[in-house]
Amino acid sequence: MFKDSDYHIPVLYTEVLETLLIKPNGVYVDCTAGGGGHSLGILKQLSSTGVLVSIDQDPAALTTTKLKLESLNQNNAQFILVNNQFSHLREILNDLKIVKVDGVLADLGVSSYQIDTAERGFSFQKDGTLDMRMDPSNPVNAADIVNNSSAEDLVYIFQVYGEEKYTQRIVAAIIAERKTKLFRSTFDLVNLIKKVVPARSKREKHPAKRIFQALRIAVNQELKELEDLLNVLPQCVKSGGRISLISFHSLEDRLIKHKFQEWENPCTCPKDFPICVCGNMPLGKTIGRKGITAKAEEISKNSRARSARLRVFEMI
Ligand SMILES: C[S@@+](CC[C@H](N)C(=O)[O-])C[C@H]1O[C@@H](n2cnc3c(N)ncnc32)[C@H](O)[C@@H]1O
Repeated sequence: MFKDSDYHIPVLYTEVLETLLIKPNGVYVDCTAGGGGHSLGILKQLSSTGVLVSIDQDPAALTTTKLKLESLNQNNAQFILVNNQFSHLREILNDLKIVKVDGVLADLGVSSYQIDTAERGFSFQKDGTLDMRMDPSNPVNAADIVNNSSAEDLVYIFQVYGEEKYTQRIVAAIIAERKTKLFRSTFDLVNLIKKVVPARSKREKHPAKRIFQALRIAVNQELKELEDLLNVLPQCVKSGGRISLISFHSLEDRLIKHKFQEWENPCTCPKDFPICVCGNMPLGKTIGRKGITAKAEEISKNSRARSARLRVFEMI
């Protein structure tokens, strides 16, 4: 028997379930099954005529989700597990002969299980292969990027995806080091970063934190995945259906916020036109301008919740 906390504590759990306005006989997609916490919450609210599609690009996540959903499916609702990237949502639904769904959830980023499993290479606090692939069939891992990317590409990755203050000196040190020894483990990279960043910055936070975030985003093409998902979502959700997206850093949140604004007000006519001639009609409305963040009580139990922001859109 699985407890919700075995693998990953779902963030904003109550808020996600409330904002999805789940109908017992509806069809829902969880784009990021992870440990199945949110998926289970949705499944429990469905009747035997409801359907849940849970997607994850990491087969290990689906194994856990399957066990959890199988053992706790109190209403015998139908659930379908799909090992794929969520950017393929339209094709996934086409394959399942589903035209539109009643709600979609994505809880972006990595799960606690992925971070805690040293050999997956996501953690700067554990020694393991410098990997960071959520999808094990992805041909590129973090070591490939560190060992083979040009200095310009590394600067772009660390600055844009990690907003790392010491990008230039870290990249210079990587380029020098890899001439004699390639990076293989997480600690190969962590130790080099510790050597080159100033001592005062080490007191504020772990010096490798931003570089690891940047590499993870690059390896898994996280921003491209999110952009592609946002581009197909309106074709996948019914009128009155909700889209609930949880992000963990400003790069993702900005993409979501801007896309919701565009959906709400897609008119491209010049501001001084008396009437709209572009014909682009609103797709729906954003629910709650600023999004929903975790309450202090949740943050005290789950530090991941600190940076989580849930944004919700309702289709017309
Ligand atoms: C934060 S966890 C989700 C946790 C989940 N909500 C729960 O309650 O346990 C994110 C999950 O999304 C998956 N994921 C991230 N990006 C993905 C993508 N582009 N396509 C499919 N799965 C993805 C990761 O492999 C990870 O298992």
